Amino acid sequence: MGPVLGVETSCDETSAAIVDGNGIRGLAIASQDAHAAFGGVVPELAARAHIRALDAMVSHALEQAGVTRERLEGVGVTAGPGLVGALLVGVNWAKAFAFASGVPLLGVHHMEGHLYAASLEDPDAVPPFVALLVSGGHTLLVEARAWGDYRLLGQTRDDAAGEAFDKVARRLGLGYPGGPEIQRAAAGGTPGTQALPRPMLSAGDRPGDPSYFDLSFSGLKTAVALAASELEERGELADAVPDLAAEFQEAVVDVLTEKTARAVEWTGVPRVVLGGGVARNSRLRERLAERLGPGCRLFAPSPRLATDNAAMIAAVARHRLESGERSAWSLNADPMLPFPGLAASATALASAREGRHR
Ligand code: KG4
Ligand code: ZN
Repeated sequence: MGPVLGVETSCDETSAAIVDGNGIRGLAIASQDAHAAFGGVVPELAARAHIRALDAMVSHALEQAGVTRERLEGVGVTAGPGLVGALLVGVNWAKAFAFASGVPLLGVHHMEGHLYAASLEDPDAVPPFVALLVSGGHTLLVEARAWGDYRLLGQTRDDAAGEAFDKVARRLGLGYPGGPEIQRAAAGGTPGTQALPRPMLSAGDRPGDPSYFDLSFSGLKTAVALAASELEERGELADAVPDLAAEFQEAVVDVLTEKTARAVEWTGVPRVVLGGGVARNSRLRERLAERLGPGCRLFAPSPRLATDNAAMIAAVARHRLESGERSAWSLNADPMLPFPGLAASATALASAREGRHR
C-alpha cells in the first residue's frame, strides 16, 4: 500500500502526517499554546484552533513528503478517545477528504496510535511486547501479542500519570504542561527530602491481587497538595519546590517502573515499549532501563513521537487498511471509544488476578 495520510486532533496538538512503507515521509505538528494561560486545555479553544490549523498541517506534511494529494491511498484519523469537539474537527475533515478523493477511511483509537509510535523509528519495536502507555488522559499497561491483539494488564483507577504531573505542577506554581516543568524543577532537588507515598505498591502484592498491575495517582496528588499547604503556612514552599518535585517524580517513576517490571515477569515477554507524553520523562526511562536490566529490550519513542502526533495514527491506519479494514462514511467521533482488540480483556484480567499464566 502507498502513502497514507494521518490526522490527529484529539486534544491540543493539530497534526498531519504521511506514512508509507519506508516510515514517516512528512510530519507536521502545531502545538496550541493558547491553553497555558488557563493551566489546562480549554475544549472550545482547542476545537477552534484545530479548524484554523488543520489545512496548513496537511499541506506541510504533503510538501515535506513530496507527495501530491492524488497519490494518497488512504486516510486515518483519530476517532477517539479525546475531547469531542476537537475530535469532530479531524473526523469530519478526514471523512470529507477521503470521500472526495475516493480513498478508504479508517477511524483510529488514539492510544493504539501511541502503541505504534516507537515502531516508526525502530523496526524491532513490534509485538510481542509489554507496553506502558502514559499520557495526559490515560495510563495503561498492555500486553501486545500481535498488532490488533491486546490484553489489558492494568490501568489507573483515577488520574492518569500525565494528569498528575499537570495538577501537581499547578499546585506548586509551575507552568503547563506540568511534566517538563516538574522534570526541570526536580533536577534541582533531592528525592526523599520530602516524603510521599508510593500508591498501590506493596511488597506483599501477588499476581492474583487486583492491585498487582493497577495504578492510582489521585492520592499521591493529594499528598503533594497537603505537604505544599503545610510548607506554605511556614513560608517554606518556594524553597521546597525542587525537593517536592523530585520526590513526586520519583514516586511516580517508582510505581511505573515496578508495575512494568511485574508485567514483564508475569507475561515472560522481555520487551517493553513506551508511549505517551510521560514517556519523555528522562528519569522514567533511566530507571526503567536500570530495573529491567540487560535481559529486556526497552523501546522509547523520540520526544516528538512520544507526544501526540499524526504519524502514529497514519501507522495504525496503514496497517489496518492493508488488512482490508475500512470505516463507514458514518464514522463519528467517540470520546469514550473502547481500546480495539481487547476482546479477551475481561477473561485475561480475571486470569491475571488469579495469577495464572496463559
Ligand atoms: O500523549 P500526550 O502528548 O497527550 C495525551 O494524549 O494526553 O501527553 C501529554 C502529557 C501531559 O500531561 C504532560 O505533562 C506529559 O505528557 N509530559 C511529561 C513530560 N513531557 C510531557 N510528563 C513527565 N515528564 C515529561 N518530561
Ligand atoms: Zn496522546
